[in-house]
Amino acid sequence: MKKQNSIAKLVSNKLVSNKLVSSKLVSSKLVSSKLVSSKLVSTDGLQHAGYLAVAKTRAKVLKAFAYVIPIRRPMLFVGESSCDELCDMLINEGSTNVFIVTDAVLNKLGIPAKVTDYLDSKNIRYKVYDGITPDPTFKVVEEGLRISVDAKCDSIIAIGGGSVIDAAKMIAMSQGNNCKPQQLIGILKARKPSVPLYCVPTTAGTGSEATLGAVVSDDKTHQKALSIDPRMVPLAAAIDPVIMKGMPAHITADTGIDVLTHALEAWMSANASVETDYYAASAVKSVMQNLPVVYKDGGNLKAREAMGIAAHYGGIAFNKAGLGYVHAIAHQLGAYYSIPHGRANAIVLPYVLDVNRQASKKRLAELARKTGMVEDGQAGKSNAVIADHLIAQVRELIATLNIDPTVKGMKTTDFDSIAKAAAKEVSDTYAVPTYLSASEIKSILTKIQQASDEHADTDVKSDKVA
Ligand SMILES: NC(=O)c1ccc[n+]([C@@H]2O[C@H](COP(=O)([O-])OP(=O)(O)OC[C@H]3O[C@@H](n4cnc5c(N)ncnc54)[C@H](O)[C@@H]3O)[C@@H](O)[C@H]2O)c1
Ligand SMILES: [Fe+2]
Repeated sequence: MKKQNSIAKLVSNKLVSNKLVSSKLVSSKLVSSKLVSSKLVSTDGLQHAGYLAVAKTRAKVLKAFAYVIPIRRPMLFVGESSCDELCDMLINEGSTNVFIVTDAVLNKLGIPAKVTDYLDSKNIRYKVYDGITPDPTFKVVEEGLRISVDAKCDSIIAIGGGSVIDAAKMIAMSQGNNCKPQQLIGILKARKPSVPLYCVPTTAGTGSEATLGAVVSDDKTHQKALSIDPRMVPLAAAIDPVIMKGMPAHITADTGIDVLTHALEAWMSANASVETDYYAASAVKSVMQNLPVVYKDGGNLKAREAMGIAAHYGGIAFNKAGLGYVHAIAHQLGAYYSIPHGRANAIVLPYVLDVNRQASKKRLAELARKTGMVEDGQAGKSNAVIADHLIAQVRELIATLNIDPTVKGMKTTDFDSIAKAAAKEVSDTYAVPTYLSASEIKSILTKIQQASDEHADTDVKSDKVA
């Protein structure tokens, strides 16, 4: 940790002293290129030189950003007593009045009790807010913020999946800055630190407990907005396999593929580094081994814990390397057709791997060799063969998990705006191995629609047989 910070400092000092990049310059460049790119994306040909130049410059600026601005890591507690350790840390830090953010499903299941019972035993006051909904909107965040401020809470514990953690990040940051959550949308919008935030992830998916971003959806359009600030990284996280053991198999599958997608997109990113590669490869290896196990046997605590750590590692990897087209398209499927985040990734992932295959075959082959995803007798084969085998194994895993590929209500008339929004997300935020034209993105959407229709036909036929 210390070493990482000092490396970041060294790099940042070097850049600043060379007057190459200052954080002000970075953000003004980002803002100005945002204006330019939104104009470019609104034209027909996404593949034209202007779009590519802006997107590639932005990717380089983001890389500099990741080096210049040190991103802290949360203190990590792992295992069955990790929630107690997390609460001890919060108490030692002087907190006396905790705001607990969760959702109604988890509250009904009694999951927050593991934390609240411990706080009771230590005579620490708390207030539970269970109003977070999947893909939280500003309204939900504003309600939580109001309750936390009214109750004068001095710290926040998020107990939930990515939706709860992201909402808690926005509540903590808005309370710390005495501002509306909408004012935090964008990069480095906060002036002050957030209220101390602690996380207990209940899914092994988003890795949000490790990241500097939070996603909030517009109440009407459901379009997702992103707030990015290193001060958003929680102070600590507890990865407790017992808390995850009751997660239903389909949520285990969806969120587990989210982990795999973070790791694969971070690995294929043009901004990947030795550091992000380590975390991305560890996450891929762990998901391939442990996700089929927890899908079949949710009570396997060893595999649950391994998936929790993999999710955290995935978060660390994409925090710096970024994501790619899988997330850019999946976010749109979520906004337009209400597909849960992890499932949307599972639906899109194989198609994006196929289109990245040419540009990423060397990197994918390297990943396969590193993670033991090479078949016996394949070691001497070409990168293309080994990369194809890795892609086939990803498809096989998704099939084993019986992830529903249905996207209800998908309309070809939506494809133009979906492609435009996905292209904009990529050029604004990611450093992808290969840039896609609008028609390439639309061709992926058509394949998704066909697979969805075929699945629906099979379902109808099997219903008739039954
Ligand atoms: N900030 C980031 O870095 C980041 C990264 C990726 C995704 N996200 C965001 O995270 C959200 C998705 O989070 P998610 O995939 O973890 O799902 P989620 O938090 O939306 O939860 C999905 C469902 O699973 C239930 N659930 C969660 N844990 C459970 C458990 N242990 N037992 C039983 N039920 C459980 C929840 O109640 C909910 O109904 C999206 O909004 C996405 O945009 C954020
Ligand atoms: Fe994700």
